[in-house]
Amino acid sequence: GTTVRYEAENAAITQGVVESNHAGYSGTGFVNYDSAVGSSVQWTVTAPTAGTATLRLRYANGTTANRPMDITVNGTLVADEFAFTGTGAWTTWQTRTLTVTLPAGTSTIRATATTASGGPNVDYLEV
Ligand code: GCU
Repeated sequence: GTTVRYEAENAAITQGVVESNHAGYSGTGFVNYDSAVGSSVQWTVTAPTAGTATLRLRYANGTTANRPMDITVNGTLVADEFAFTGTGAWTTWQTRTLTVTLPAGTSTIRATATTASGGPNVDYLEV
């Protein structure tokens, strides 16, 4: 089906800020998660029909340490401490993919940091 891109800077941000100081992002910027457990970005996405969908999260992590995040769909945990390992630089963006089941209509997809370092810098979610 059609892939739709949902920019992180247009999503609902809890404990994070929109920044644009590391090149290579899509849209007008990216989200820099606060260094805290529980910092998060939540997107509202639309699926025309119920079924499996591929989620693509684009991120950068200029450290050598993993920045895991819990991924939820409509409040249900679908990926526990999903790894966002170092990308080599804050300007090097990579994509992580996971397959989920979505109902028809709107769903909320949330990526929540699970360590005190917070999440990586997040550019967008594609569905
Ligand atoms: C640096 C970097 C930020 C990043 C932060 C972090 O400050 O410039 O973009 O978010 O490190 O470690 O999370």
